[in-house]
Amino acid sequence: MNVLCLPGDGVGDEIMAVARRVLEQVVKKFDTSLNCVEGKIGGNAIDHYGNPLPDETLTQLSSCQAVLLGAVGGAQWDHLPAEQRPEKGLLRLRQKMELFANLRPIQVLEGCAPSSPLKQEYVEGLDIMIVRELLGGMYYGEPRGIYIDDKGERYGVNSVVYTEQAIRNIGEVAFRLATQRQKRLCSVDKANVLEVSRLWREVMDDLGQKYPHVQLSHMYVDNAAMQLIADPKQFDVLVTENAFGDILSDLASVLAGSIGLLPSASLDGKGSGLYEPCHGAASEIAGRNQVNPLAMILSTAMMLRHSLQRQDMAQAIENAVQSVIAQGYRTQDLCRQHDTPISTERMGDMVIDALQ
Ligand code: IPM
Ligand code: MG
Repeated sequence: MNVLCLPGDGVGDEIMAVARRVLEQVVKKFDTSLNCVEGKIGGNAIDHYGNPLPDETLTQLSSCQAVLLGAVGGAQWDHLPAEQRPEKGLLRLRQKMELFANLRPIQVLEGCAPSSPLKQEYVEGLDIMIVRELLGGMYYGEPRGIYIDDKGERYGVNSVVYTEQAIRNIGEVAFRLATQRQKRLCSVDKANVLEVSRLWREVMDDLGQKYPHVQLSHMYVDNAAMQLIADPKQFDVLVTENAFGDILSDLASVLAGSIGLLPSASLDGKGSGLYEPCHGAASEIAGRNQVNPLAMILSTAMMLRHSLQRQDMAQAIENAVQSVIAQGYRTQDLCRQHDTPISTERMGDMVIDALQ
């Protein structure tokens, strides 16, 4: 097993260091081996190579089955033109690896419901899977750019483009996941306004014929945003396009108590994948040993499950995380009034202890 580790920017280094220690422990426990190579992406790659996704990183990638990524971005690179920003490194990597399916599980771990801003009974036991299409829509659509019209006025353009095949591909992933879960799939679109959404809905309906045991419903994205807060437990699997998924997954992360708990997997459909926490670089707390490493740790579990076929090792990590939470240990982001926060490294130590 070869894994490319890309800590990236901000808190990336801290969470990656902890996740690698956890990974070492689980590898030891299961008496197997795993080879981690470390590379650069995002702002630190810009500083080092002048490119957010340098060839050096792509060369490393060619011998790896999976990528673990910390986070990219930071204010010091905000002034750069769009093409050279840290985020572009991640967007190009998603394209290079053909990662069209982004899975963002929103689970409320036992004991975490009180950290959610919603009333406990609304979120206790919550388990939603957001399936976000990751290579289409306005993120990659052409034409795009800032232009000047005949009268000399500037205007900006982005295009939301989806081929039927791209919709079908992400639909298949979502239907299959729903089959393994509660068999309820809600497809989120804006079909009352957008043509691309009307096509989306048609294709999802068509796929639904193939999965008669899955209960398919459709919801407009504005309503979905409201329903995620008003009655989140109605959802099992949500499937949606790139930009809607970006927004809804941040929104839904709040339900779990902290975005610092949420892992993600980006898959190519052939077994390769990129695994990263849903949260960003959080530069304001970088270097303080304060960030919650659990999203990164849970991302390594997703990697073991989806790319390395080690369900047993993934489950061991998830159980360890759950037991540390159940014992009451909390990093700053999850603390309520009377809690005393523990550090990033300490949280890592606790998970490693629980693994032993
Ligand atoms: C995410 C992030 C990225 C996205 C950024 C960093 C490009 O917000 O993974 O949700 O918009 O996809
Ligand atoms: Mg996002």
